[in-house]
Amino acid sequence: MNVLLTGGAGYVGSHAAWTMHRAGHDVWAYDNLCEGHRQAVPEGRLVVGDLMDRAKLEAALREHQIEAVMHFAAFANVGISVTNPAEYYQNNIVGTLSLLDAMRTANVNRIVFSSTCATYGTPEQVPITESEKQAPINPYGFTKLAIEHALADYAHAYDLGYAALRYFNASGASTESPIGEDHDPETHLIPLVLQVALGQRDHIKIFGNDYPTPDGTCIRDYIHVDDLATAHVAALEKLAPGSQLKLNLGTGHGASVMQVVEACRQVTGHPIPIEIVGRREGDPAELVADATQANQTLNWQPKCTDIEAVVATAWQWHQKNPTGYEKE
Ligand code: UFG
Repeated sequence: MNVLLTGGAGYVGSHAAWTMHRAGHDVWAYDNLCEGHRQAVPEGRLVVGDLMDRAKLEAALREHQIEAVMHFAAFANVGISVTNPAEYYQNNIVGTLSLLDAMRTANVNRIVFSSTCATYGTPEQVPITESEKQAPINPYGFTKLAIEHALADYAHAYDLGYAALRYFNASGASTESPIGEDHDPETHLIPLVLQVALGQRDHIKIFGNDYPTPDGTCIRDYIHVDDLATAHVAALEKLAPGSQLKLNLGTGHGASVMQVVEACRQVTGHPIPIEIVGRREGDPAELVADATQANQTLNWQPKCTDIEAVVATAWQWHQKNPTGYEKE
């Protein structure tokens, strides 16, 4: 299939691009490189462009005879979304509407959309099922929920087939392709802990140990990025005009911040000093997916579900690329 991946040079997007590429699909990454990395995209498969550039998007869709879009391009830092919401509403909502317009003009009617567990806000029930109320608590979550609503309306009115995949914590790095996680600034737990093991930080700050969880630290569902990628391929294969899929993508198992640090100690052999500091604003105590619907609908099971195994793949990448991708 000919597929355009917006944000295909980013963390999750590049893993999906390589997974699709290895499976023999004709993939094109469309990325403005504001956060993505040229080196993360399979050779010769990058179109540098912005979501707001409708003409360029339309040309890419037509020129490469695109049959479906995977839409990863978005800002995804919860903290920055609070301090700079304008950028988030503009890029994540207006940018996506521009993409949907270009798709309509070019007669592309299938899309897999990166949504998030942040659309649930602070859930009433954990593990979280898709029927949990979507009540975001930050602008990032609102932007993703707004697009889920737009997709549902477009499916109804224009026969768009879509999958909204609600990721839990994307983690790890590819074991088959030369790509991994490189954010600037880095805010995610696993890469920050591994920076301690690499000697780039003295210690890791733990944001609160007074949560109502067994060890007092927050629990998250760390889903391997390659497992996210295979779920995208399976979702794409399910899409028909007008069809809708809304699925949680997680392992169904939680790990606490302390358990992640311990896994990093085991994998790296480094003692990883910690410092307990205050809670980070907006962090729910526990976010774990009930991924039964994705398992059944997509006939998909994550392969890398053990937190140590996830960390080991990340560690491989960070050891080989201690400062991330080479800067151009
Ligand atoms: N944490 C620390 N110290 C750090 C960094 C993180 O203790 O230096 C903790 C956080 O408080 C949280 C856990 O580690 O409890 C995981 O934090 P991340 O920043 O790695 O991930 P989040 O759970 O905050 O974010 C993820 C996705 C977002 C999504 C969000 C939904 O990355 O895109 O879940 O809440 F919006």
